[in-house]
Amino acid sequence: MSTRKPKRIGILTAGGDSPGLNAAIRAVGKAAIGTHGWQVIGFRDGFLGLVENRWEELYKDGLSGILTVGGTVLGTSREKPHRMKIKGETRDLTGTIVANCRKLRLDALVCIGGGGTHKNALRLVEKGLPIITLPKTIDNDVALTDATIGFDTALGIATEAVDRLHSTAHSHHRIILAEIMGHRAGWLALGAGIAGGADVILLPEIPYDAKNVAAAIARRSQRGLNFSIVAVAEGALPREDAAAFAVAKRYLEHARDAHEKARAKEEIAALEARHSGHSLRLAKQLEQLTGLESRVSILGYVQRGGTPSAVDRLLGTRLGTACVDFIAAGQFGIMVAARGDGVKAVPIKDVAGCLKTVPPNHQWVEAARRVGTCLGD
Ligand code: F6P
Repeated sequence: MSTRKPKRIGILTAGGDSPGLNAAIRAVGKAAIGTHGWQVIGFRDGFLGLVENRWEELYKDGLSGILTVGGTVLGTSREKPHRMKIKGETRDLTGTIVANCRKLRLDALVCIGGGGTHKNALRLVEKGLPIITLPKTIDNDVALTDATIGFDTALGIATEAVDRLHSTAHSHHRIILAEIMGHRAGWLALGAGIAGGADVILLPEIPYDAKNVAAAIARRSQRGLNFSIVAVAEGALPREDAAAFAVAKRYLEHARDAHEKARAKEEIAALEARHSGHSLRLAKQLEQLTGLESRVSILGYVQRGGTPSAVDRLLGTRLGTACVDFIAAGQFGIMVAARGDGVKAVPIKDVAGCLKTVPPNHQWVEAARRVGTCLGD
């Protein structure tokens, strides 16, 4: 009989919620408790729960019935350990997190999250915590993994929206712009645009010219098709804005002192503020350029809500159970990545700060062009 003490592991979800998180929590919990007899505790609201010591033990029975539920039963937040807002004050509470993990005698801490979570996780790895991460985000922009938990569900929702917008655009002879989430990556807009048969797809990775979009719409009108659907990523940029962002980012990279750095950051913030509402501005421009009435549907948080798809439940379950195997093998400082039908442990340091954007020559981009979709370039 083994005399080894059962492990105690913690789990949290951080960043924006996404469908399939509960499948992953359930998988980690059931495999850890059921296969190994470990104790599992769930922290509330991401890293905030770790700082505030808000957690509860997860039992096998309590993990039943959550597989099909959207969101995260643990709650989430975008709080960063090194810049945590507590009672109106911003403080570095990394030390508190390390101390709390040690007090709780955690053998492992599983952090399920996207780009921000990986940067935060790396800071904790560097402080010596035994961290292991799982990739989730509807944006699909986490490096070194084929897929992220939540993307497939959001893709289905956005595709259905693009489908539905067709009939109303057709009936009213309108241009309808569907603004699709994805932050600085165009995966969701590109995937839903292709699957939903959008006539134009605009991505952050391919700066657009409104005149090119209008010309594509005009060509459709000449063919007797006087309606069009534009799938526009929330981060899509007109050429001139993309150029201004590039200049500001270069300025930030080469800033020689704190003053220059602050100025570059201010410039980026101003550009970001100007960017909000860009779909509405583009709709107006297209109306003027084509003479067709234009409308905008911002799909927003609907894309993140509700029942996870079978693919996301499967992905959450695969990554969650594999995560427990890596913990059992004593492998930390890694993200459990999806690779083909299998999984791969990749160092968190290789993931943190690396955004996976759409390569302009990606096969999805080529496929969209081949079926005659305008990409605005
Ligand atoms: O990262 C997921 C995401 O939904 C992005 O697509 C979007 O830009 C962002 O989160 C919205 O963030 P918040 O939930 O903080 O408004």
